[in-house]
Amino acid sequence: MKTTLSVIKADIGSVGGHETPSQQVVKTVADFIKKAGSSLLSDHYLFTIGDDIVILMVHQKGVDHPQIHQLAWEAFVEGTKIAKGQGLYGAGQDLLKDSFSNNVKGLGPGSAEMEFEERPNEPFILFMADKTSPGVFNLPLFQAFADPFHNAGLLLSSEIAQGYQFTIMDVTYTHGDRIITLKAPEDYYDIATLLRDPETYVIEKIESRATGDLAVVASTSRLHNIAGTYTGKDDPVALVRSQKQFPSTGEILSPWATAHYVGGSNRGSHHTSVMPVKLFSKISFFDGPAVVAAAGFCVHEGKLTEPVDLFDHPFWDYIRDKSAKKFLEMRQQGFFNPAMLGMNELEYTGVVERLKKLNVRFQIRKDK
Ligand code: F6R
Ligand code: MG
Ligand code: MG
Repeated sequence: MKTTLSVIKADIGSVGGHETPSQQVVKTVADFIKKAGSSLLSDHYLFTIGDDIVILMVHQKGVDHPQIHQLAWEAFVEGTKIAKGQGLYGAGQDLLKDSFSNNVKGLGPGSAEMEFEERPNEPFILFMADKTSPGVFNLPLFQAFADPFHNAGLLLSSEIAQGYQFTIMDVTYTHGDRIITLKAPEDYYDIATLLRDPETYVIEKIESRATGDLAVVASTSRLHNIAGTYTGKDDPVALVRSQKQFPSTGEILSPWATAHYVGGSNRGSHHTSVMPVKLFSKISFFDGPAVVAAAGFCVHEGKLTEPVDLFDHPFWDYIRDKSAKKFLEMRQQGFFNPAMLGMNELEYTGVVERLKKLNVRFQIRKDK
């Protein structure tokens, strides 16, 4: 029997700005999933991260199943009604279409799904990020699955030493999915060349070369491609299986100690450090730093254990301080690049419009 994990997430409105959903909205979404999902799901769990609601669903229907996607969509529609009734900011923000058709892909919510034959012991991690884009996973997943300097397990375990296959997507391509498949370790430099540019190339999935098992899936949608205009960063999620033929949970978590810089934060237009935070964290300061939370689970015969909050440990307090310091360093230079993102990544049109007006006032000097 195969088990499917489906994570579908959306921002459907927040209290006090883009900070966190209201309790009533979260309860509405949770109640809907519990009731309408009772015959579809073997288990489920709900999280919030910043202004997003993340629904983790366990079932036996495989990925991209219309009923599962419709369940999440309808839960978000119900939640949006409450969000509008409460006057929440950005109510229904990520529901970009009026009606559901088949799959949430292209409709606004983000999704990451994987189907697998359960191992007797099946640990996995759900990563949830806010105020940033899918490229946030490039560095930590590269380090965990390809870089023996970071992950000595790639040398120590003969199973994981056989390497991993990376499927990488060009998220700037808007006419469909443009993907490439590369193998670590032999394509190491090719993988590095793509992943160094997280606003263009992002990891869609990673598979074990020893067993063919799926190790990682990440949400790859770009909301501003779907909507045509700015609707918020893509605030991605990822599912990562750990241990045995995969890197250990520690090898997967530890790259986040870099608190690396990514695009995101206020108006989705800045470089921000990532801060590993506790589950259900809110947003503060400069609508940033970008945040990431990690829930560890085991699943058995379609049933989840309770989650373990993987960044709730004294070690990560030190990293949170480091991330705050890194972000403050960047904020000190205000709008001067690289504090702000490059022209193609600015999520608001103010700078582009001003440049257009200035452009016609530029003159080519004639006396030289
Ligand atoms: C970024 C984000 C916020 C908003 C900012 C302005 O993902 O959600 O930083 O971009 O608060 O929001 P609006 O334009 O809705 O007033
Ligand atoms: Mg938002
Ligand atoms: Mg968000």
